[in-house]
Amino acid sequence: MYTQISKLSQYIGQEVTLKGWLNNKRSSGSIAFLELRDGSGFIQCVVSKKEVTEEIWSEVEKSTQESSVEITGIVSKHPKQVDLYELQAKSYKLIQLSIDYPIANKDHGPEFLMDNRHLWLRSKKQWAILRVRDVVITAINGYLHSQGFIKVDSPIFTPNACEGTTTLFAVPYFDEGSAYLSQSGQLYIEAAIASVGRCYDFGPVFRAEKSKTKRHLSEFWMMDAEGAFIEHEENLQIQEGLIKYIIKKTLENCQVELNILERNIEPLKKVLELPFIRLTYKEAIKKLTELGSDIKYGEDLGNDDEGLLTKDSAVPVFIEKWDKGIKPFYMKLDQEDPTRVLNDDLIAIEGAGEIIGGSQREDNFDLLLERIRHEGLSEKEYEWYTDLRKYGSVPHSGFGIGLERMVRWMTGVEHIRECIPFPRTINRLKP
Ligand code: 4AD
Repeated sequence: MYTQISKLSQYIGQEVTLKGWLNNKRSSGSIAFLELRDGSGFIQCVVSKKEVTEEIWSEVEKSTQESSVEITGIVSKHPKQVDLYELQAKSYKLIQLSIDYPIANKDHGPEFLMDNRHLWLRSKKQWAILRVRDVVITAINGYLHSQGFIKVDSPIFTPNACEGTTTLFAVPYFDEGSAYLSQSGQLYIEAAIASVGRCYDFGPVFRAEKSKTKRHLSEFWMMDAEGAFIEHEENLQIQEGLIKYIIKKTLENCQVELNILERNIEPLKKVLELPFIRLTYKEAIKKLTELGSDIKYGEDLGNDDEGLLTKDSAVPVFIEKWDKGIKPFYMKLDQEDPTRVLNDDLIAIEGAGEIIGGSQREDNFDLLLERIRHEGLSEKEYEWYTDLRKYGSVPHSGFGIGLERMVRWMTGVEHIRECIPFPRTINRLKP
């Protein structure tokens, strides 16, 4: 019976066939311990020379790390560890012998590993990260549907900027001149809410940011959510609900993976118990100044500032109502104080930094046009967007979460480049 490692608890004492790759091999001369991985998990297979034919034993002996193999044997519980199984091999087939696999089970430098990303993905740690990423994606989809959002896709080729013109990637586009790779699908799903009420997109976005930090990619995945009749307060509640849901699902479904990643899960459990902290931008600047930062009112928060604001916090911190001068044109002015906008950045704990940016959107046609003109943007290019304020404009809000930032926080991995299968950064385009 052919099965997968993740299903072995159903087959104790029975004969099964597993297919996968050799992660590791130890041999004592008459007994070989093969660590097999099949994508669903890892298992130790024991081959005893006296239990198999000479032909099989010689196949086992010549097998190397990353060879693809098929092993048939009897499933038993691991003698020492709970929830772990072993396979007592009876038969063994080498599918393909892997020769000189470049990544040995030893330390390699990050550049070497990144050059070999196509192979490095097979390592246990990278396997665990890919699986956490999948759970985070599934949780995001699940939470949003539970809140009445449906998925509406936004385009990648766009005629104009969503998040400032300095980080646009231009590409030649037939006779139209340049197209720009999307920085966020927000503007498009703002159009779609007038059709479906609440929706989200989830896909790759691009920023030509010359940042070499551990938190920046030039291609990353963003989920933009948008809802008609959602105002600032509810927007924050949805974001908090989403983050808690992702954490809950990650803790429930990724025990093995978080264990492999040596992730201390206590801080994550704590986040589930408490409400998130809220600071206005003004309060945040005051607090930062008291803590010794040289940040001035009107400036964006740097990495260190985010760290300072969250260092003693058990929960993420919303920084809301920023000065309008440092935020994009589409954010709604706060009626209580029109020098600021109804927005938020959500700063995670444990040094994970900003994971969400969101806001209530300007729904007044005249005010929006004024902001577009003030920013020096082309009125014509944004005509379709300002149209949305002409025909049944409603209060509405939304936010965007950076998938890899969230995966980085959940996994505790230091560098964001490990949180996406094939990272694109300022100095990496290959493989
Ligand atoms: O704060 P940002 O720029 O917000 C927007 O793009 C809005 N249009 C979203 C919306 O309201 N629908 O980006 C949102 C999130 C950030 O909080 C961060 O998590 C992530 O996207 N992000 C990046 N992740 C990796 N590399 C980068 N260069 C990133 N820039 C932003």
